[in-house]
Amino acid sequence: MAQRTRTLSDLEAAELRGRRVLVRVDYNVPLDDDRRITDPIRIEATLPTLRLLVDAGARVILVSHLGRPDGAPDPAGSLAPVAAWLEDATGWNVPLLTEAPGSSELATRVAGLEDGEVVLLENIRFFPGETSNDPAFGTALGELGDLFVGDAFGVAHRAHASNVGAPTVIRAGGGTAVAGRLMEREIRFLRDTLRSPVRPFVSVMGGAKISGKIDLIEAILPTVDRLLVGGAMANTFLRALGLDTGKSLVEEDRVQMAADLLERGGDKILLPVDVVVASEISPSAQTRIVDRDDVGTDDRIGDIGPATRALFASEIRGAGTVVWNGPMGVAELAPFAEGTFEIARILADATDQGTLSVVGGGDSAAAAEAAGVAARMTHISTGGGASLDLMAGKELPGVSVLEVVDEVADVDGDAPDDAPDEAPAQVRTGGSTDGGAR
Ligand code: 3PG
Repeated sequence: MAQRTRTLSDLEAAELRGRRVLVRVDYNVPLDDDRRITDPIRIEATLPTLRLLVDAGARVILVSHLGRPDGAPDPAGSLAPVAAWLEDATGWNVPLLTEAPGSSELATRVAGLEDGEVVLLENIRFFPGETSNDPAFGTALGELGDLFVGDAFGVAHRAHASNVGAPTVIRAGGGTAVAGRLMEREIRFLRDTLRSPVRPFVSVMGGAKISGKIDLIEAILPTVDRLLVGGAMANTFLRALGLDTGKSLVEEDRVQMAADLLERGGDKILLPVDVVVASEISPSAQTRIVDRDDVGTDDRIGDIGPATRALFASEIRGAGTVVWNGPMGVAELAPFAEGTFEIARILADATDQGTLSVVGGGDSAAAAEAAGVAARMTHISTGGGASLDLMAGKELPGVSVLEVVDEVADVDGDAPDDAPDEAPAQVRTGGSTDGGAR
């Protein structure tokens, strides 16, 4: 019998009413110099979980990190802007509790919570026991809750006290640890969908380096029908074909790896056939479009060309499942953004026609947002490193710690009638593949 992660949807409201629920969220969001949140999507994405808990009358204790404050309080890392954002968005009071886990002050404060009340603990990385997953700190956190809800997908690849230690303690004490609504969707689309994709299954891979995504490429290559490669990582593949890439970014020490992948992937792997080049990668660059075998000695490749966009479009249209990870060029600079934006638009159009589109990684999510099509994708992950790992088939400590239940199929072998619907999600990201807001 198959097993699946237990989720909030498996619990009755009566099981939540009056209970102290420790909810690990990932509010590691970008802030500007005035400490204003510039992209609240990671907070927005947790609202379904929070509303469910508040409506059920749970007593909600939110726990998050922000940045990497290194185990000591730092005013620049305070979650105060997040508490204010939550209050504005929901109309609830969301006090920021600065007392330390394990202190009698915090225990008293939590014991006094009323049904439906929400509090946010101050940045959990202000305490040294968090990232070291110190057992005493995990116990202090775990003792705050009767049950645990894991909704911090972005940090699920870490084994820290608040996302692994505390739920372990709660479960050992007879409580439960379940996935929140956001975590549930991430697992469904990044793990379960990729295990049995609707075909044709197409992966669009971009970004700067093969090295950062090699585990994902290795894991996905045997199962995809097509792997479309863009971004600077394509330069390394072009070099492996023996082509001149001028002054473009190339991972010299990965050229042989690229050659091996091309050998193994055969005609599954499609590389750019033309590229946008310039003598410098800058906001005012003068660009040219050239065939991939006409890149000049002083050229730098900054984007995929129009013939490549059309080639990739022909694969994306009509695909059953498309997983997109990484921009096709230097998407943050206007002269080199069009290839990425065009792929985002093509993928959104395909999604409208029934393709299941999964966007993982912060940079491609940001590109979909900038292209104005994010809301049309089936799922956009809130994770950076966590989404790469989950898609690569790795176990994430923040997922493994959650309870599993036996999946009951009906007589036709379908998912149970009360399984969450498959309607497109508009869960979007504030993370980045290299670690998010810092
Ligand atoms: C992220 O932004 O990717 C997550 O919040 C994890 O942050 P970390 O890389 O600092 O652990």
